[in-house]
Amino acid sequence: MLKNLWYVACLADELDQRPRAARMLGHDFVLFRSAEGAIACLADTCVHRGAPLSQGRCVAAGVQCPYHGWVYGHDGRCVQIPALGQDARIPERARVDAYPVAERFGLVWVFLGDLADRARPAIPDFLPEYLDADGWAFLHGRFDYAANWERVFENHIDSAHTHFIHADFGNPDDPRVPTATVHTEGLGAWAEHSYKPRPKRGPLGQLLDEHRPMVRTRLAFDLGGMGVRLAIRMTETMRQVVFQAFTPVDDTHCISHYIQARNFLTEPEHDASMRADLEKIFTEDRQILERLRPVLAPESPAGEVSVGSDALPAAFRQQVRRWRSAHGRVRSPDRSGIDSISAIASPARSGSGGWVFPSA
Ligand code: FES
Ligand SMILES: [Fe+2]
Repeated sequence: MLKNLWYVACLADELDQRPRAARMLGHDFVLFRSAEGAIACLADTCVHRGAPLSQGRCVAAGVQCPYHGWVYGHDGRCVQIPALGQDARIPERARVDAYPVAERFGLVWVFLGDLADRARPAIPDFLPEYLDADGWAFLHGRFDYAANWERVFENHIDSAHTHFIHADFGNPDDPRVPTATVHTEGLGAWAEHSYKPRPKRGPLGQLLDEHRPMVRTRLAFDLGGMGVRLAIRMTETMRQVVFQAFTPVDDTHCISHYIQARNFLTEPEHDASMRADLEKIFTEDRQILERLRPVLAPESPAGEVSVGSDALPAAFRQQVRRWRSAHGRVRSPDRSGIDSISAIASPARSGSGGWVFPSA
């Protein structure tokens, strides 16, 4: 798993003034929102005796540990130790990692790493429709996979599987993927594809098919926000965008937070059927993704065979290798929580020592 990138921890409306647990990159975090609306994300384990802060409660100064009531502020520093009274000196080491947070597109993003502000990749502008929302409807959701994040991510930029896994819109009679130019930009890449949808049955279906336009898609990914944007031009006027941000829970589990934007059937009464259609597709993907071996994607290109239609996934693999060699990797700790724990290093670690838990 990769650090020093932005990951989605939850949907913005899931976060209130109750602490919320999130597991990301094999580590535990607590998120909460102050009464004024400011969001915080801290490492979840109290440095006193190891209780989960996410089981505590929110107070004016931050989050209070459920075990002995220590209070940690939004910057991760302990500001109160109730057993010592009001004016007690707080030990310097009484602090947990605090991570940069942002709220964008109705999602809560956390920067899991120790890069200073100016060195961090930006959250890409994945969904301009969200900022200029006139005529668009949006659907937010979450989908879980018992599969490695790289395998899941790659699936969503892989056009060739569509015709075999997705019977509703793939076209197994013409499964060719025309060679597309892959444009690499920053931490991502994009490519455009078009295909003839699966023919409909019967004479009327055939007649209609002759006049049906090619479906045009533009697929883009960016590691900066670990996201994929699929923009589909279904007809001259009908547009659909499916944006997904992938969060590795650990090496073998991954969550997708998704947003569908559509400029047709925009009334809320269509949301349930839109969600059912989308999740049917995700379920078809999940059935195969949870069975891929090895569970982790091979590190070297020699560990599998790639062909021309894998160009966009290959660009993704390349970006992952580049980021991994520059920033290292995080693995699910083998005996995490049994004899030791680690924390993802936060920006405050550069230039200050004395942290209780070693960095991952
Ligand atoms: S374990 Fe958190 S206050 Fe003691
Ligand atoms: Fe798929």
